[in-house]
Parts: sequence; structure tokens; C-alpha cells
Amino acid sequence: MSARPDTSAAPIHLRDYAPPAWRVESIELNFELGIDTTEVTAQLHLRGDANAPLRLDGEGLELLAIALDGQPLEASAWRYADGMLEVEGARDGSVLSTRVRIHPAANTALEGLYLSGSREAGFLLTQCEAEGFRHITFFPDRPDVLTRYTVTLQAERARFPVLLAGGNPDGAGELPDGRHWARFVDPHPKPCYLFALVAGRLEKIERDYRTGEGRAVKLVIWSEANVIDSCHYAMDALERCIRWDEQVYGRYYDLDVFHVVATHDFNMGAMENKGLNIFNAKYLLADPDTTTDDEYKAVEAVVAHEYFHNWSGNRVTCRDWFQLSLKEGLTVFREQQFSADMNSTALKRIEDVALLRRAQFPEDAGPLAHPVRPAEYREINNFYTATVYEKGSELVRMLAGKLGADGFRRGMDRYFERNDGRAATIEDFLAALGEANDLDLTPYLAWYGQAGTPRLRARGQFDAAARRYTLSLSQHTPATAGQPEKQSLPIPVKLALFDRHGRMLPLRMDGQTEAHETVVVLDQAEREFTFEQVEHAPVPSLLRGFSAPVILDCDYAPADLALLLTHDPDGFNRWEAGQQLAVLAFDDCRRDGQTAVRAWCGALAQLFADPALDPALLADLLTPPGEVELAEREQEVDPAQIHALRQRLQTQLATTIGAATLAQRLAALDVAGPLRLDAVAKAQRRLKRRVLELLALVDAPAAQAHADTQYRQAQGMTDRLAALSVLVRTEADAATAALADFRRRHADNPLALDKWFAAQAQVPGERALERVRTLESDPAFTLKNPNRARALLGTFASGNPSGFHRADGAGYALLAERLVALDALNPQIAARVATAFNGWQRLEPVRREAARQVLTGLAARPELSRNLAEIVAGVLKS
Ligand code: BES
Ligand code: ZN
Repeated sequence: MSARPDTSAAPIHLRDYAPPAWRVESIELNFELGIDTTEVTAQLHLRGDANAPLRLDGEGLELLAIALDGQPLEASAWRYADGMLEVEGARDGSVLSTRVRIHPAANTALEGLYLSGSREAGFLLTQCEAEGFRHITFFPDRPDVLTRYTVTLQAERARFPVLLAGGNPDGAGELPDGRHWARFVDPHPKPCYLFALVAGRLEKIERDYRTGEGRAVKLVIWSEANVIDSCHYAMDALERCIRWDEQVYGRYYDLDVFHVVATHDFNMGAMENKGLNIFNAKYLLADPDTTTDDEYKAVEAVVAHEYFHNWSGNRVTCRDWFQLSLKEGLTVFREQQFSADMNSTALKRIEDVALLRRAQFPEDAGPLAHPVRPAEYREINNFYTATVYEKGSELVRMLAGKLGADGFRRGMDRYFERNDGRAATIEDFLAALGEANDLDLTPYLAWYGQAGTPRLRARGQFDAAARRYTLSLSQHTPATAGQPEKQSLPIPVKLALFDRHGRMLPLRMDGQTEAHETVVVLDQAEREFTFEQVEHAPVPSLLRGFSAPVILDCDYAPADLALLLTHDPDGFNRWEAGQQLAVLAFDDCRRDGQTAVRAWCGALAQLFADPALDPALLADLLTPPGEVELAEREQEVDPAQIHALRQRLQTQLATTIGAATLAQRLAALDVAGPLRLDAVAKAQRRLKRRVLELLALVDAPAAQAHADTQYRQAQGMTDRLAALSVLVRTEADAATAALADFRRRHADNPLALDKWFAAQAQVPGERALERVRTLESDPAFTLKNPNRARALLGTFASGNPSGFHRADGAGYALLAERLVALDALNPQIAARVATAFNGWQRLEPVRREAARQVLTGLAARPELSRNLAEIVAGVLKS
């Protein structure tokens, strides 16, 4: 039995890739399931080169028996050490049999086979991506080994009435002693990271689905009995996304059953195991009383994401983990398209760009920066990052934009056809898209290999005599750790020109008349673009729709941005102009300037009065960039000051709109009657929350009184949580009673309780720490449940800059202590929470020194897992 993997293990390099010497054509797996011990027998049908050593991965496995071609192996014919089993004597066509014992209930890392819930009532399940299968049996645990699976599960019927594995059902029956069995055959060869099983007492809901190809499919969602009624929304979302993938991509489901299972104990959001998706309950269960509007959207998005992997990830998988974005970036993009189609294109784009700036830009600007396709890693689980996912999706979006809808579809058809049943690379993807369109897309490969966010500088010059407008674009990517030299990238810049009245001008370039919007590509360090027959100095609208993941530097006057904010017909661009203007206004607040503050507040006050504006869009327009995003622009970050300035800016906004107007709008948005979940009602709640927050800045008593009533009368979680959060943050007298009520009311609902923890971990400023300490001693708090640990510690460390970054360093000390405890239970979660330290080098000196001390102390601890050690060492390097 090996305990922890070697922390000092050397990094793995993309350039060292070599195809496997041995493949496994098919496998028969047999599980004798038990909570404390499970025995796994495996028969591997091998193909390969007898001259190459046969090496199989295996972590913490107790080897009970081993045989080759039916003959038990002598002890001298195999060696098991450091997570690797080496076997002698295998030939092409050999069958290797092993029998191992593993311990699900003792598995707190939630990787491999583990127990969800209690020993008495819980169920068994697996998580194999990225390298969990080696915790279950000996196998070449790498994604380019594609295998046909036959899986037989055996267990005591009373304790494990439901037995599930990926693939189609292939028989079931009784065994002596109250035991039973079930078999599953997956006809599609797959990498072992897509293997899954589930066993226990579960309830189900079912729906029949017929694919466009005529296949009858059973859709089944499983959960523990008490929440099965909360699975219907996910079932609707599932049917919607299956239909959408047929219509938009021509992709059909390919098994007779599609199982989805909800668990409260899960490291990630959800997992796309072939035919047996497993979900963190947070992204599957939905119920009007306990689920917010944003969470409903998240359920729809995650259900779609995992389903879409059936093609982008499963049918076409990754050659190695460096290619992770090939499936994740592409699938995020597909989900973004789907969610835009189901809801609103502009609002979805706003949400995704805001996430990119909040999560990916800081990653790309700090010591953890890495390319969308990294060149090396130590612990692959640390590379499921915003860069691989979110920036990866932006790269697909750029390619899709370049090809146009029809060209992109042609390219995707080619990609799926040519790579079906294969483990592919980013090059394969670009080649398919390019060849189907007679285009060379290899210049875009540079985006995948280069870390750091490019700066795009834009300067316009108007020549009145020549009636000509010249736009000069240049690019520069700052050096990142280990990548000092940067090359120029192809940057598509979608643009339009506006006149002083806010009308879009026709664009005349190179003598050709074009539409009102065009895309120019900056594919070198700098270039000029000239527009003819322009009568007056125009206002350029650049990077429309966020056409490339870059940071734009354009010397806009506040009035220019205010014009775009009030006149651009596109909701996203309007929001974007407002964000840029808010940044200027933020700088004004610091210097006691007024121009940009007035422009921002004035424009928004005007929009506030516009009855035609979508309330959801208005809510987003009224929200300035967050504290994390604002900190990114600073040389020396003082999170307390950023918080204070941002509050001052919002107070100015609230004052400009006026307390009376805000209160009036709030009253108008308060609709009586039963909860409605349609888009209009959701948009109104979104605005209501924002207006309440603004009112709290100019008339706290009025806002608190409203929040108190809203809390008590709320028909659903969106309004209830918004009210609670305003009460808590403004330290209203009514907060205590509301918190106690919420705690009591939702005591049996872990997902609702997570929100209760998170709302309190978000109180800004110095008081947050004491609160976190108190909450840690709440009987419902535990480090063993990832959702709970994230709700309190993750929210505090990553979602509350002014609370976490106390000048005395007490926030850092607390987090470091908890990380050590968490790491001993669950290294993946500890490593993720630890990324909150990213960016400490840019803190002002006092906080920087405090963080440095805590981090060096943490790095020196010998017991850290490879996961946590890599992140701590990573953030420490400059
Ligand atoms: N394949 C991942 C889940 C995963 C990630 C497993 C890392 C093991 C290690 C899944 O498809 C995924 O991307 N899930 C996301 C949610 C998604 C909607 C972006 C997640 O879990 O955060
Ligand atoms: Zn995914």
C-alpha cells in the first residue's frame, strides 16, 4: 500500500509524449462491492510490443492475485512500487488478470471509489478523471488508451438495490446470500477516466427520448429519496440540450440509456462519464424554495456541458492531459452557445466575460499563469483552470467567428468525423476546421501555447480635410513566469464607428462599402486601418462582443463611453462601455475627480428611467466591475481601499438616481402572488436585488426595513437570499433574527445551508474573520464535505477581498492552518482553495510581508500533498 504520491515528482512535459507501448483492447471488470472493502478483479486484453516493459498504474491497491494468460505469476515476475506495477512476460494478445482490495469508506479524497453520505444510508460511486482509475485497479491510466468495457457489479441487495455502470445494461440477477449482480457493456471504446459505477439506495425519475436518428433512449436521473422531486428541472434541461445538439451540431446520443446521478460529496461540479454522468447536487437539484434564479441557470448550463461532452470529449477524446482544453474549452463554448439560445445572448456574454476577467485574467497575470495548452505540469488536477476552460472557450469562439456559422459547422463536422473514436490533439482540431474551409488556421496555434493576456492598444486619428479616420492598433503581451518572450497573435477586432448622435456609420475601407460592423484582424505587432468618407470625428466601438480575450487600452473620453453606453443597440457592448466608464469613474473617486463619475452616473440615471430597457440588463449595467477586477489594474493593491472606493462610486450612483426613485422602483418590482420562474420574473428579481443594494448605500434604514419585509415574505430563494445578504452586510438589527430563521428553516437542506455559510463569509472588512471562526464551530460545519468547505473558506478567501486581506495577516494565517487540515483529507480541494493566495506579490507592502511569511511557512511543511505543494510553490515564485 502506498500512502501519498511522491510530492517531489518531476514535472511531465508535453514534448515527451510517446504513444503507449501497450494498449488494452477490452477489459472485464468485476466488483464485489462493500462499504469498507471492495474487491475488484480485472481482465485486461493486451495488445503491444513484447519487448517493451508492461507498466500499469495503481495507487494504494492491495494486490490479492495476479495471473498472465491464466497462469498465476511468480513473485519474481512482477514488481509493485511507487504507484506502478511492472509485469514480465506479456505478449501481444496476452490477458492479464488481477484481483485487488480497496477501501471506499476510508477514501476522503473523493477520487476513485468512495462513499457519499453516511455508512448507513450513503451510496458508493466513482470519480476517475483525471487519474482516479488507478485507485480502483491496475491499468495504463492515460487518455490515449481506448478500451471496450464489460462491467459486472455484485453486492448485497438490501444495502445496494441499485447497481449502475456506464454503457448499456446486459443482464442482472440474483446470487446466494441476498446478493445480486448487474452487467453493463459499453460498445464505445473509451479512456479509463470515463469509467463510472454507482451503487446504493437511490430513487429515479425517467423520460423516454427518441433521437433524430430514431434511437429510443431512456433518460434516468437518480438521487437520494428525499430530493428526487428536485430533479425535474434537470430532466427538462437534459431534454432541451440533447435536442439542441441534434439541431445545431447534428450530434446524436449513442447508447440506449443515459444515467445522471446526484451526490452531495463531489470535488468538482459534475463529470461526463460515458452514459453515467455524476453531478454535484448543487448543479442538479432545483426547487423553487431553495434554488436561486442564477442557480437554475447553472443547473441548465452544467447539465448541458456534461451532455455535450458525449461528443466533445468522449467520442473524440484527448491524446494526453496537455490537450485538456480540446474537450473543456470546446465544451464550455458549446454550453455558452446553448445557454445563449435558451436565455439571452447579451446577458450570457456579459456573465461569461465578467467571469473571464474575474477568474482568468488574474490567473494569466500572476505566477500561476500557463498557456491554454500547458507545456508541463506536476499534478494534473491543478490544471483544470479558468485558463484551460474560459480562455480555451474564447479561442474556440475566435475560430468560430472567423469561419462564420456555416463554416464552423462544416469544420466541426469534419473534426467529429475524422477523429471519432480517437484521442486527438489541438492540432487535429485546427486542421479539421481549417481544411473544411480551405483556410490555414495554424497562426491561431500560438494562442494555445502562449500565456498572458495580450494588451491591445488603440488610437484613432481623424483627418477632417481628408474626411479620413485612421485607427492604429498595436499589441503587446507582458512576460509571464517561464515565458519571457512573447509573439504577436492574430487578434480579431470587431468594430463599429458611431457619430455624435449615437448612430452607427457605414464603414468604407479600401474603397469598398461594407456594413456597419466589421472585423479587422491585427496579426502583427501594429497596423493601421483607414476608413474613408467620414464626416466628423467618430467614436469607435472596439472589440465588440468581446471578439478576443485581450485587455483594451483606448484613450476614450468619458463622454465617448457615455455615448456608447446609452446608444449602442447591442446589449453586451453597451455594458462593456459602461464597465470601461466605471473604471474611469473609479479612478476619479480616488483623485476626487468628477468628470467620469458624472458621466457614468448621469448615463445610468438616464437608463434607469427608460421603461423599454430589459430589467436584467439594467441590473448588470448598474453593477461596476468587481473588487478583484479593479485590483488587477493596480500596481500596489490595497483591498480595503478598493472596497471603500468602489462603495463610494456606487454611493454616487445611488445618490444620482436618488433614494426616492430607487425606493419607488423597488416597490414597483415587488410583485405579490406565487413565485414565477419565467424570464420576465427572473429579470425583475435581478433588478430588485440591485436596486435594494443601491438603496442601502443612500438610505440604509429604508433598505433594511424593505429587506426585512422581503426576507419574511419572499416566495423563493432569490428574493430571500438577496434580502438576507443585504441585512447581513449592512449589519441591520434584523440580521440576527433572519439568520436564525434561515438556519432553522433550511436545517435539512445542505445546499441551502451552504448559502447561509457563504452569505456570512462575504461580510466585508475586518469583521469577516471573527465571523468565519464562529461559523467553523457551527455543528453543521465540516471540512469533509467539499461544498461546505468551499462555502465558508472558499468564499472567504476568494470572494471577499476586503475580509480576507486584513492588514494584520490574520486572514492568511487562518487559511493556511485550515489548508493543512483540509489537505490531509482532500488534496484537490485544498489546492483549489489555496489559489486565493495568487496575486499576493502585488499587495501593498504590509499585507505582502504578512502573506509572504504565511506562505513560506506553509511551503516548508513536509506533509503537504503534491496538489497543495505545487500551488503553494507556484504562487511563491515570482
Ligand atoms: N470533466 C469535468 C469534470 C472534472 C474536472 C473531473 C476536473 C475531474 C477533474 C467536467 O466536464 C467539467 O468541466 N465540470 C465543470 C463544470 C462545467 C460546467 C464547467 C466543473 O466540475 O467545474
Ligand atoms: Zn467539462
